Amino acid sequence: MRAETITTDKANEQASSWSSNGEVLPKPVPPSPRPARMRMPWQLKTLLPVAAALLNGLLLFVLLTISLDSGPRHTVIAVATAGAFIICAIIMATLGYFVRKPMLELQKKIARVTQGDLSVSVDFADRNDEIGDLGRDFNSMVLQLRESREEIQRLHRTQMSRAEHLATLGELAAGLAHEIRNPLAGIAGVIDIIGRDLPIESPACAVVKEVKQEAMHINRILTDLLETARPKHPNFRREDLDATISHAIMFAREQATTKQVHIEFLQQKNVRPVEHDPAQIHQVLLNMLLNAIQAVAREGHIVVSLENRGDYAAISITDNGPGIPPDTLKNIFRPFFTTKGHGTGLGLSLARRMVEDHAGRIEVTSKVGEGTTFVVLLPYDRPHSEPAQS
Ligand SMILES: Nc1ncnc2c1ncn2[C@@H]1O[C@H](COP(=O)(O)OP(=O)(O)OP(=O)(O)O)[C@@H](O)[C@H]1O
Ligand SMILES: [Mg+2]
Repeated sequence: MRAETITTDKANEQASSWSSNGEVLPKPVPPSPRPARMRMPWQLKTLLPVAAALLNGLLLFVLLTISLDSGPRHTVIAVATAGAFIICAIIMATLGYFVRKPMLELQKKIARVTQGDLSVSVDFADRNDEIGDLGRDFNSMVLQLRESREEIQRLHRTQMSRAEHLATLGELAAGLAHEIRNPLAGIAGVIDIIGRDLPIESPACAVVKEVKQEAMHINRILTDLLETARPKHPNFRREDLDATISHAIMFAREQATTKQVHIEFLQQKNVRPVEHDPAQIHQVLLNMLLNAIQAVAREGHIVVSLENRGDYAAISITDNGPGIPPDTLKNIFRPFFTTKGHGTGLGLSLARRMVEDHAGRIEVTSKVGEGTTFVVLLPYDRPHSEPAQS
């Protein structure tokens, strides 16, 4: 079996642009500057070969008529010269009408397209020659551009109204979560008091414990929802990660009551303190630990380790659960993606956002049938780090 690894590295995303379907988009090539050459008007370019041909003809004509009397000879040369000039003028007028005029129109219309006016079309498109072909191609290109722009505008409008709708729903959910959390804290407090007054041998103790667990679960869902709707800026402090990790492990053990899960913490001694928000990293690790607890069988084994990895402190959480199939693995960071009946699917998406706010990243390796490892990498020195609060 193959181990699948994905990473939430933001730096990689910045190095190359990614389309929504995962393809690498080519970078736009800047237009190359025009070579500095002398610009020759088209009239001169057309006229020069014609004039050269006519001049040669005239010279030949002069040589051939050398034997004639000078009177009629001069008349013939004058007529031939005038004829040459008239031919040149006719060629120029014809080219000006059939080629230059449409080219000037095309130039003007291209300038209008560049300024964003996609309602233009050229008038010479009905001509039945190559210039007409050029006009038809130009008109159909502008039509396609117009249709693409209308499609983009339509999609943009749809996205905007969806975003507004979601924002309203988010506000509503956040308000609701906030309103539910306060009475929930009251209910949890009352249950605590009831539990304390009960004799230890009472069968109601187990029920009270269960209700307390459920209240904690609802509270966590509400916290995740609130955090998603109104993300908080991390409150950075340079502290040892051991304390944050131990705290999260303690919380996770408290919640793993229905399973005999063994959580082991392996620490490397030389890990320096890391600038982090202990509350946020606690939430990240707790979610990963709860995921691991939920994934493993009754007698599961979870190993948490803290070690140096170059410029990063690496916190790994490895479980011996069923692993994550590749099709699921690529979705686990998407908000609201869950394979659990009671899950919200917000845990990992929130974890990713929080870790990225710390300029870190999350890596996941999973082997179906063997287990999963999540690695949270936090940099020792965040780029543009603010002065740490103490
Ligand atoms: N250690 C793991 N082993 C197997 N699957 C996992 C593991 N961790 C995460 N997953 C998968 O990733 C999905 C998303 O996890 P996430 O924490 O975001 O949401 P959730 O646990 O389903 O819900 P919530 O955290 O809101 O209760 C899970 O539903 C599960 O399928
Ligand atoms: Mg979870």
